[in-house]
Order: sequence, then C-alpha cells, then structure tokens
Amino acid sequence: MNKPFRIAIFASGNGSNAEAIMNYFSLHAQIQIAIVLSNNENAYALERAKKFNVPTKVFDRSQFQENSEVLNWLKEFDVTHLVLAGFLWLLPKRLIQAFPNKIINIHPSLLPKFGGKGMYGMNVHEAVKAANEKETGITIHEVNAKYDEGKIIVQASCPIKVGDTVDAILAKVNALEHEYYPRTIEQWILSP
Ligand code: GRF
Repeated sequence: MNKPFRIAIFASGNGSNAEAIMNYFSLHAQIQIAIVLSNNENAYALERAKKFNVPTKVFDRSQFQENSEVLNWLKEFDVTHLVLAGFLWLLPKRLIQAFPNKIINIHPSLLPKFGGKGMYGMNVHEAVKAANEKETGITIHEVNAKYDEGKIIVQASCPIKVGDTVDAILAKVNALEHEYYPRTIEQWILSP
C-alpha cells in the first residue's frame, strides 16, 4: 500500500475550518491529519484537534521565522502538505521552499476583491458590506511568498441580500468554506 499523504493544519483562532477538515478526513484511506499548529496558545482550533486525537504544537515568532523548529516538527510528523485555515502569519520563505506547490489557503472573499494586507476575519465581511456588494464567497488558492496571490484552485459565491448584516454574510461564507474546503483539499492532493 502507498504511504498516506499527511496534512499539517495551521490555524490561529476559532478553527471551524480545521474541524471540518479533521472531520472529513477522519476515516480517509489515503489522507491523514498529522498535526495542528498554531501561533496562538488560546486558539480554539487546538481544543478541536484534541477531540480528534490530532497532536498539536504551538510556536512563537522566532520558532516560526528565525529557526528551523517548525520545519523540524513537520519532518518529524511526516507531513506532506500544509493547509492554512485561518492562519494569520505570513509563511517564511524557508517553509514555502520546503513544500513547493503543497500549501493551500482559503480566503473569505472572491479574490482579487477584498484581499491583501489587513483583509482577514470580519474586516473582509465589513468591507464587502460597506461596498454594497451583491455577492461574496470564498477563494481556495495555492500559497506563494505573497499572500492571496497564489494560483486559484476554486471559487464559490453566495448572494448578499439588501438587509444582510455582517454576521449574516459571515455565516453564508462559513457555510461555503465548510462545504468546499475539505473536498477541494482532497482533490488537490489526490489529483494535483
Ligand atoms: C475563515 O473565514 C477563512 O476563510 C479565513 O479565516 C477564517 C477562519 O475561520 N482564512 P475558522 O477559524 O476556521 O473558524
């Protein structure tokens, strides 16, 4: 039997996408979740990982950017692919070079709209609402050295109604994320 593919999930906060991914792959024949990593020791994503018996690691900026600690963990855990799920730090070049075309991210808007610096979390949905957009959605893309500029793999959209609050927009986008991200990761890994 072929060796399984092994995902490391990077998450800084709530981790609802991390959970959807762990759930989807929990009994998968070819793809496993090897580890959940976070820059934030209070990230709820870490609690969610425990539920699935997935190991976790927390790192600080120097472990992430200035030395090879995180890279060593990834080797130790036999990681083949990196999945960013609400991860807020820019990846260091070293990490990007170690996983060429093997890093994926999800952004909660239809890129190139509402992407780039400062566009994360509620900022995105507030900007979408303020711009009176008629639709919004998600973009799943590969990661390169510039955030939100890697090759787009999938986009999916949802309509915005006139009375929709920012929370209502968030809920619609979250639903799309949980529906699309796990299976897009599966296809991206199995038929790159
Ligand atoms: C999601 O909206 C995702 O698109 C973005 O960060 C958010 C993370 O949400 N990259 P959660 O932590 O997975 O609930």
